[in-house]
Amino acid sequence: MNVLVTGGAGFIGSHVSEAFLARGDRVWVLDDLSSGKRENVPAGAELVVSNVEDPGVRDLFRDVHFELVSHHAAQIDVRISVSDPALDARVNVLGLLNLTEAALEAGTRRFVYVSSGGVVYGESDDRPTPETAPKQALSPYGVSKLTGEHYLRYYRLVHGLEYVVLRYANVYGPRQDQHGETGVIAIFSNRLLEERPLTIFGDGEQTRDYVNVADVVSANLYAADMSLPAPSADLDAVALNVGTGVETSVNRLADLMEQVAGRARGREYCAARAGELRHSALDSSRLQGLGWLPGSTLEEGLRETFAHFAAHEGDAPKAERARAR
Ligand SMILES: NC(=O)c1ccc[n+]([C@@H]2O[C@H](COP(=O)([O-])OP(=O)(O)OC[C@H]3O[C@@H](n4cnc5c(N)ncnc54)[C@H](O)[C@@H]3O)[C@@H](O)[C@H]2O)c1
Repeated sequence: MNVLVTGGAGFIGSHVSEAFLARGDRVWVLDDLSSGKRENVPAGAELVVSNVEDPGVRDLFRDVHFELVSHHAAQIDVRISVSDPALDARVNVLGLLNLTEAALEAGTRRFVYVSSGGVVYGESDDRPTPETAPKQALSPYGVSKLTGEHYLRYYRLVHGLEYVVLRYANVYGPRQDQHGETGVIAIFSNRLLEERPLTIFGDGEQTRDYVNVADVVSANLYAADMSLPAPSADLDAVALNVGTGVETSVNRLADLMEQVAGRARGREYCAARAGELRHSALDSSRLQGLGWLPGSTLEEGLRETFAHFAAHEGDAPKAERARAR
């Protein structure tokens, strides 16, 4: 297949690109390199440096017949979405529409849209949270991700564009950047390597569902090939949660990271971040029904991730390390 991975120079998109290449697909990466890095793009993939909002994207779709679009490019920072909701909407909503219109025009077979289970459900009492739970997005980022799901439902119902929504939990693994809340494992890894205390916001008893990027990649392969139900007005009909269902507190995560790293430099507790979710975990039984299962425990995944950061210590530009402090 010809596959377009938007955001393929970023953390998750680069792993997904590798997996498509490994199974013999031809891969194009569309990325403006705003947070992604050229060196993340796997050898064999063709990098097109462009903003998803650029009208020139239509030409790319006309030139290359993409069977599949895997849409990972996004404005992913909740705090930026709060300070500049219009910027968030331009990338996450108008950028998506530019791609879906191009896909429609060029006859793309399937569109895989990456949403976020951590934000579209908001603070849910029903945990692990199933796909059918109420959508209570609390931030402009959550609203823009959910809006994308509504647009895709429209494209399927009215224009027949096939799509699958993947609602990720908190993804971690090699190559994760240190920005945003979801980068806590990357941040902890680097702090431990620098022999510095781990910073924890609030009391550290907030919980998250940490899923290994390798498992997210296999979910993407299922989404590319799974058979789909008939078009439906149900927003959740083709949505799949991608998580482990296990809640881990930040304090527990810090313990595990210190064990994996074989070193500890204490903790620094700071004021809780306003608007931060208290608890989040996703029920992935639907995806498991297709044969998907998390391939590693959190401890194994943390070991592998810490080893990656240890091997690349010193690679991050100084400015980035300073920002992470
Ligand atoms: N990391 C997580 O835990 C997590 C959880 C839920 C959902 N997601 C979603 O997964 C996707 C990938 O996230 P990630 O963690 O790999 O982030 P990332 O920042 O590493 O990757 C995003 C990529 O998109 C590119 N990009 C940003 N704006 C762009 C634009 N306007 N045009 C073209 N390219 C642009 C960036 O340069 C980057 O390479 C995003 O859609 C994000 O919302 C991530």
